[in-house]
Parts: sequence; C-alpha cells; structure tokens
Amino acid sequence: MKVLIIGGGGREHALAWKIAQSPLVDAVFAAPGNPGIARHAACVDIRADAPDDLVAFARRERIDLTVIGPEVPLVAGLADRLAAAGLIIFGPSARAAAIEGSKVFAKDLMLRHGIPTARFSSFDEPRRARRYCRDVGAPLVVKADGLAAGKGAIVCRTLEEADAAVAECMEHRAFGPSGARVVVEEFMVGQEVSFFALANGDDALPLAAAEDHKAVFDGDRGPNTGGMGCYSPVAVFDDALEKRVMETIVRPTLTALAREGAPYRGVLYAGLMLTVEGPRVVEFNCRFGDPECQALVVRAPGDVVPLLLAAARGEAWPPAHPWPQVASVCVCVASGGYPGQYATGLPIRGIEAAESRPGVHVFHAGTATREGRLVTAGGRVLGVTAVTENLEGAIATAYAAVREISFEGMHYRTDIGRRGERSAAPPRR
Ligand code: AMP
Ligand code: GLY
Repeated sequence: MKVLIIGGGGREHALAWKIAQSPLVDAVFAAPGNPGIARHAACVDIRADAPDDLVAFARRERIDLTVIGPEVPLVAGLADRLAAAGLIIFGPSARAAAIEGSKVFAKDLMLRHGIPTARFSSFDEPRRARRYCRDVGAPLVVKADGLAAGKGAIVCRTLEEADAAVAECMEHRAFGPSGARVVVEEFMVGQEVSFFALANGDDALPLAAAEDHKAVFDGDRGPNTGGMGCYSPVAVFDDALEKRVMETIVRPTLTALAREGAPYRGVLYAGLMLTVEGPRVVEFNCRFGDPECQALVVRAPGDVVPLLLAAARGEAWPPAHPWPQVASVCVCVASGGYPGQYATGLPIRGIEAAESRPGVHVFHAGTATREGRLVTAGGRVLGVTAVTENLEGAIATAYAAVREISFEGMHYRTDIGRRGERSAAPPRR
C-alpha cells in the first residue's frame, strides 16, 4: 500500500521512519516533508493548506492511507476535505478537532460530561473576564480560545498579571482572532504528563505516556516553547493510573464527542495534571505531540500501520503487541534565539556521527538542503532521540549523540529526562 504523510516537522519524520518499516507499505510520500523525511519517503512540494492539490496528488498516486500530522490543517478541516474525496484519513474531522481548536468547546464538553479538569469560565468581554479572575484568585491561567502555536495559555501569579493577560489576548489581540474569547481557569498543581490513545470513532486503544519539557532553559526556566525534549515511559504513570485515565477521561471524552455528532478518529493527546485529587485535563490535542511522538515511535512495538488503518477506517483494533521494557529520550536541538527570533540557513554538522551510535535516531524538525548542504530552517532543528533498556542509559546516549552535532548558535536543555530519574521506579511497558 501507499501512505501519504502531511507535515514536515520532527513528528512527521518520526512517523515516516516508523511507517516506512511496515511490511504492508510499498511507498511513503510526504507533503511537504523535509530532508530527514526524504530518507524514508518521496517528498512532494504541496502545502497542507492546498487541499485540492493534495486530493489530485493522492488520486494520481492511488494513496491508500493519509496521515495528517499537525493541528492547523486538522482544525481547518483538511481531514473532511480529503475524506469527501474518498481518501482514508488518519486524523479527526474539524468538528472533532475542535477539542484542540477551541478551548471553550473542549472545556464546555468536559463540563457537560463530568470529565475532570480545572474549574473555569469563558468570556468574550474583557471586563467580565477580569471580574471572574477576582472570584478565582491568583494563581490562575488565562487561555486564548483558538490555536496559538502553543503560546495561548498564560499562567498568572498575580491578579495584575491576569489583567495584563486578558488585555494581551482580548484587547491587543496578541494571538489574533484566537484571543477574541478566553477561558479563565484555576491553577492546578501536580506533575504534567502527555498521554496518547488511538481512537476509531467509538473505541480507544491506549498507547503510552511521555513527559514534555516546555520551558526553553534547564530547570524549567524561561519562556515556553513547543517542547524542548521529552522522555517515555513516565514511571508514575503506571498501569493503574493508565486504566483510571482511560476510564475517567479518554473513553468518556470520545463517547461525548460521538454522542454530540463528532466521532473522533486519530490520536487523542490528553495533556494531564496529576493532582492530589487524581488526574485532570490541562488540555486536549487532536494529534501526536511533538517531540513526544519521536520518543513514542522508537519504543513502539510491531507494525503501526494496521493500528493507523483501524483508527482511520473505524474498524476493530488488531491484536496488540506488548510494549518492550525500554526507555527513550528525545532532546530537541534548537536555533540560537528560539523561541524568539533566530537565524536560518546555518550549516549543520555531525548528524552521521550521532546516528552511528547504537539506539540513536536523529529526527529532522527544521532543516533544509541548500547547495547540497544540510542547513537550519526552523526554531527546533533536530530531535536527537535515543532508546535503550532504561532511562539513565537513554539520557546518556541521547546527550552523547547531541555532542556530536554542531551548528552556529545551537542550544538545547541539558536536563531532559532528569525528572523521570528522580521519580525512581523501573520503567513500565
Ligand atoms: P496548554 O496550552 O493549555 O497546554 O497550556 C500550556 C501550559 O500551561 C501547560 O503545559 C501547563 O504547564 C500550563 N497550564 C495550563 N493550564 C494550567 C492549569 N489550569 N494549571 C496549571 N498549569 C496550567
Ligand atoms: N509537545 C507539546 C505539543 O506537541 O503540543
């Protein structure tokens, strides 16, 4: 069969690498892909916001399965457009993707169906939002309703910061129309975990958990990024906790969406806070995490394509393979200045040496080829990923590989995975 992957970041490179290994797959295409993806797939220069071109390409190549990586095209309805043209799509419809595309929709759904999350209210009028901030009290969180490239949630330690956040979203429109409405919610305390489950419209299949490191600098200092690295599995997220999350969060959410006319097919990413009262939802995303996907695929057992197909077609799950007892770490190597402004076009060295180390995979996030040379082309440039028998080994291997790589201004966190080491206990699954 032939598979088309839409997207061109580290997540899509990891998916392409895994999908290309499937014995069911004869050819992989990526639109637009990147130089790393080009090692596993034929890259075609079509953008995710050109659905007619994607349909024409998929028909011409007789694509059997299309996997949509990023949230922006999903929320914009790309899965609907391609499905209407008769294609089989891994990724939710626009109505189901609203679980990520609108915080107000997601929070109202959780409230209606008793799914544990932070207490909240939503507003389209700044004066009323500010008044509610006083009811909640600081610390609290102000969130732009729509997509904001991971920057739309503002944690406020004081009411002054909350007032400024409301102004930023609603009056200054720092996130454009995404900030026309805001959610104001209570601040939750606990360990954050990203949990992934596949969904085929009415049933869910748990995958695994990972812990992301969102702040740009060591010790969780500095501004938030798309994610500077992660590790998987997460020791505290044991079988009992996974079962509880499936029963109290994932399955009720999928049932709620189906009942409201928006059955969910694809991967559901539950951003969770493990509070003293139990796991509660921070946010839902309608896709794999980036870089969580990189840490997941290198651990994932067997062939993923039958799973993706079952989700896409709304069919029963094939027999599950147990996850091996291994741990993985992905360290994101970023451009100098990221998540602020950064230069691009800088030559990258050392990837081959990094990848010659056993257990290491270097996934490309923001790279390009210029005059035959690999250069930087984004904020997060590479996801250096290692898989070994335990977390300590994965951390050591990933950082040894990172040290082989160099480009001008490159920076990365040096403490990815350390939180997992502190929470002790051997890895599960
Ligand atoms: P979000 O975009 O909703 O995932 O929020 C980004 C980050 O803000 C999360 O990863 C959390 O670290 C933090 N955050 C969001 N909502 C809350 C909350 N209610 N309580 C504590 N932290 C939060
Ligand atoms: N790593 C966080 C995200 O993908 O949203």
